[in-house]
Amino acid sequence: MNDALPRTGFFRSRILTTLVLWITFPLFLLQPSQGYGASRAPVWGPRGLVATVSPAASEVGASILRQGGNAADAAVAVGFALAVTWPAAGNLGGGGFALVRSQDGKSNFIDYRETAPAAADKNFYLDAKGEIIPGASTRGFRAIATPGTVAGMALLHKKYGKLPWKKVIEPARRLAVEGFIVDQSFVSMLESHKERLEKFPVSRRIFLKNGKDLKVGDRFVQTDLGWSLTQIQKSGESAFYSGTIAKRMVAAIKKGGGVITLDDLKNYKAVERAPLEGRYKNYQILTAPPPSSGGALLLAMLGMLEKDDVQALGFGSAAYNHLLVETMKRAFADRSEWFGDPDFVQNPLKKFLAPDYLAKRRANINMSKATPSQEIKPGDFSDKESQDTTHYTIVDAQGMIISNTYTLNGSFGSGVTAEGTGILMNNEMDDFSSKPGSPNMYGLLQSDRNAIAPKKRPLSSMTPTIVLEGGKPILALGSPGGPTIINSVFQVTLNTLALGMDIQTAIDAPKLHHQWMPDRILSEPWGVNPDTKKIMQSMGHNFGDRSFHFGDVQAVLYDKERKQWSGGSDSRHGGSVAVE
Ligand code: DON
Repeated sequence: MNDALPRTGFFRSRILTTLVLWITFPLFLLQPSQGYGASRAPVWGPRGLVATVSPAASEVGASILRQGGNAADAAVAVGFALAVTWPAAGNLGGGGFALVRSQDGKSNFIDYRETAPAAADKNFYLDAKGEIIPGASTRGFRAIATPGTVAGMALLHKKYGKLPWKKVIEPARRLAVEGFIVDQSFVSMLESHKERLEKFPVSRRIFLKNGKDLKVGDRFVQTDLGWSLTQIQKSGESAFYSGTIAKRMVAAIKKGGGVITLDDLKNYKAVERAPLEGRYKNYQILTAPPPSSGGALLLAMLGMLEKDDVQALGFGSAAYNHLLVETMKRAFADRSEWFGDPDFVQNPLKKFLAPDYLAKRRANINMSKATPSQEIKPGDFSDKESQDTTHYTIVDAQGMIISNTYTLNGSFGSGVTAEGTGILMNNEMDDFSSKPGSPNMYGLLQSDRNAIAPKKRPLSSMTPTIVLEGGKPILALGSPGGPTIINSVFQVTLNTLALGMDIQTAIDAPKLHHQWMPDRILSEPWGVNPDTKKIMQSMGHNFGDRSFHFGDVQAVLYDKERKQWSGGSDSRHGGSVAVE
């Protein structure tokens, strides 16, 4: 086209272009290649990457990789480090799931979900009239389920680790004993959960300094937790499940009116399960099987959209949002009925994920009108076939990937710190249905399949996921956020695989959440523009009164152009990606 210009105009335009390029050159350097909105660039690394919610923990993971450890060593080191640097969710007193893909192409799912203590049964949280006792499953000593994290980390290390156990625990032990400087996100995390911690004297003493609140720049030392980590470093998981820590924990729980016994701890086992596998277009998806509902719902939602060209709808358009929300409602309706611990109840996965069932569900979406949730019933599979969690993702230079989500359930779990151990205890019992048909703290309705029984694992939404293309891993991700986890993972997966966003953009792009009941959409601040909202409301959608950020995705995506991994960490929170 320039050739058609008169020569003087041609040179003038060349000079102008050169000037513009020079002036804006540094800006180009700072831009992600296909940035969305105000997102920052991903972090690229020629070797390993560690994405976590806590910069100190990300650095622990990267330093373990630099010392010759693999992704499993780093994952164990990070799991323990987050218990020190991100106590709202990082934990020894909780549980979770680790999805592993090793460099030999094998995958595995380590289920270290908490279990109900032997003394808990179906009616554990009901009063004499059969009504739910408010708060009993969410706060204090009776809310605690038998923790699984230490067993899970030990199993991960035993199966895949290369470095000595003592070495991978050391960074966490030092962070606890020597302390670390707290930043704004740490202080804000404590401030927003003060009320929960205040009720329990040990938690109050450790985390609220008996009223002398931590300020940005203060050093936070956790002596009791340092003691516990030293015991675990010396004696392995037995310190926690039968040794000195077990005795202190059980004494503290008994004193507070809880029911966990030494036998509950001794009997706890982390288990290996086959990851749930499915496809979306040309991609193979490895994700969380029951007792998580997350993987099944993720595959169902991707399956419903298999034939849709979501890119053509346009990210964030009313049509795009409508399709996603209607898909979510249908998947969550089935969650309410059909899932539970696979060691206790059957999960009708084959039927739930059957392409013809998902195609029928998709066909039932009216593209111009929202279906009220009351009209969406859970599918019938009855003829039986035979606010806090944290996720981190690690890839090493050999291609081993760990996608790990673990939790205390609510932020700071039950609020209880077991005396003499520095260990915060979970409130995972609330993930059971205390009374079928009554919502839990996330407003989730669940069936009898998820009723409490001794040693049973509560149904989860945690969705650690790894995606492969042509047999090679290309994406690994996960998130906290209760039921919003599933939709966060769903949307970031679509953002990368279907819309081609870079990983940081995909994470930061505004998300929506619908969980069937209550029948309303949760959106993020500035996430839906008013015109789009109006169109959606005219289609029959309800929006929640408040909008807030949900999820905190930590992920890695293989960058085909640069031939290396890129990492992203939700920029609305305090996390970071560290490079090996
Ligand atoms: O397993 C679950 O589904 C919940 N206990 C997760 C809790 C959670 O993500 C809270 N985070 N913000």
